[in-house]
Amino acid sequence: MIYSQKVLDHFKNPRNVGKIKNADGVGKVGNVVCGDVMYLYIKVEKNKIKDIRFETFGCTAAIATSSMITEMAKDKTLKQALDLGKQEVANSLGGLPPIKLHCSLLASDALAEAIYDYLKKSKKDIPEDLVKKHKRIVKEKHLIKEKYKEWTDVEDKIRS
Ligand code: FES
Repeated sequence: MIYSQKVLDHFKNPRNVGKIKNADGVGKVGNVVCGDVMYLYIKVEKNKIKDIRFETFGCTAAIATSSMITEMAKDKTLKQALDLGKQEVANSLGGLPPIKLHCSLLASDALAEAIYDYLKKSKKDIPEDLVKKHKRIVKEKHLIKEKYKEWTDVEDKIRS
């Protein structure tokens, strides 16, 4: 079996799918390898993630890791949520095939971007590591826009 039972379960029954109206933070990221895109929405209360939802235009691994990271991040403090990297998410799913590891970056980047967005909007201090990550993600988003413009335009239309 290429995928673990957990991956298949989260792919077939993804948790926390959808948008949050008036989200406190929104992360939109793309994957430079394949052009897939993910949106992640968070509601924050007392420095903890109280609600979290996602929309992912991606493969089996991208859907499963998106679903898993929402479960892992819920009720965590922002700092704890920022520590959820692609490897932690992949491990929680019982692993991913090496060729699909890049897909799990989408989920951890989207969560980081949503937290960045929240901290920026609420004029709170943004950790240096997160600023660096944000800059890398913005660069990648430009590359994706250039490379996959037709595709990402269609995705934007589907979402609106
Ligand atoms: Fe694009 Fe998996 S192939 S995220």
